[in-house]
Amino acid sequence: MDALNKKTIEDIDVKGKRVLARCDFNVPLKDGEITNDKRIVAALPTIKYLMENGAKVILCSHLGRPKGEYKPEFSLAPVAKKLSEYLGTEVKLAEDENVVGDNAKAIADELKDGEVMLLENVRYRKEETKNEENFSKELASLADIFVNDAFGTAHRAHCSTTGVASYLPAVCGYLIQKEIKFMGGALAEPKRPLVAILGGAKVSDKIGVIANLIEKCDTIIIGGGMAYTFMKFLGHSIGDSLLEADWVEKAGEMMKSAEEKGVKFLIPVDNKVGKEYDENTEFMVVNSDEIPDGWMGLDIGPKTEEMFADAIKGAGTVIWNGPMGVSEWDNFASGTITVAKAVAESGAISVIGGGDSVAAVTKLGFADKMSHISTGGGASLEFLEGKDLPGICALADKD
Ligand code: 3PG
Repeated sequence: MDALNKKTIEDIDVKGKRVLARCDFNVPLKDGEITNDKRIVAALPTIKYLMENGAKVILCSHLGRPKGEYKPEFSLAPVAKKLSEYLGTEVKLAEDENVVGDNAKAIADELKDGEVMLLENVRYRKEETKNEENFSKELASLADIFVNDAFGTAHRAHCSTTGVASYLPAVCGYLIQKEIKFMGGALAEPKRPLVAILGGAKVSDKIGVIANLIEKCDTIIIGGGMAYTFMKFLGHSIGDSLLEADWVEKAGEMMKSAEEKGVKFLIPVDNKVGKEYDENTEFMVVNSDEIPDGWMGLDIGPKTEEMFADAIKGAGTVIWNGPMGVSEWDNFASGTITVAKAVAESGAISVIGGGDSVAAVTKLGFADKMSHISTGGGASLEFLEGKDLPGICALADKD
């Protein structure tokens, strides 16, 4: 898949056309209020382009996992409200439990050029996640053109991401283009050295990414809970730290493969360890080969912070996915903060993905110092694994 070779909204005439635009409005909600609207903001350039160029815009998205049933708590009503605020015009929500129902059809029929409406949560339909033909056709029947701009859902082969593309001319929006440009660029033609920082709890979630990045990076930095599985391979005592015993051998293979390819593979040399998995637990700093039983690693230690910051300092490009410790707890956030600062100050092209690392960068006020913050969780990981994303594959290639 050459994602950069896909047709975009600028390659197609949208004036007076009904355009079905798939966005990823899967935003966090608390008591019916959106607590983080970054994904909505990220979709605005495409929506505005379509409005300004005279399209009749029909937006659609999923929200959460209602599992093929109408459940009011998964309604896109809060998103319609937020979009109306951002766009300065009413975005009508078609309140159909079956998504493409009488309301959707009536509102779509009355749309004037430059107007916008929103369908209800596509996952109210059980066919959506199974990519069944009938729902894809129903969605397609509303429009003349399909635009996919839902990067966060591009790894899913669903009706609204791939199925519908079989029935309409299908192009990508600005967000997908931007994500591919930064992430694809960082992997294909990086300014060197290319440094990847990988954290988070599980090796098993990231092994595909590590295997792909070993082929491309100059340095790989491993932090977070998954680091202890690598330490175990080296024969270190890891106390009660997180361990994926079935993955120790695979972790070792990764380290050997990096060595053979001349890729620097950095794992923590010291750790902040706690007595319990608790925000206020007693803690101390110990070397990586000295974690006593009854203690668990909850963050990288100060020597490791220095080592990682040093490796990041000289980077030309940085890809970062996953925190270095339990970064939402103040006592164990230091490793993630140091890495965020080092990336922000490095002057490198920086691409950040993964909920917790993005949250840390945002909380620390470094978001605008990063070249690109991905809106994709699972999608950005699959992209970094080198996998084709079905939501992008389904789109038309440039002539
Ligand atoms: C995400 O939040 O990662 C995307 O919106 C995809 O959601 P899903 O994992 O429920 O498919």
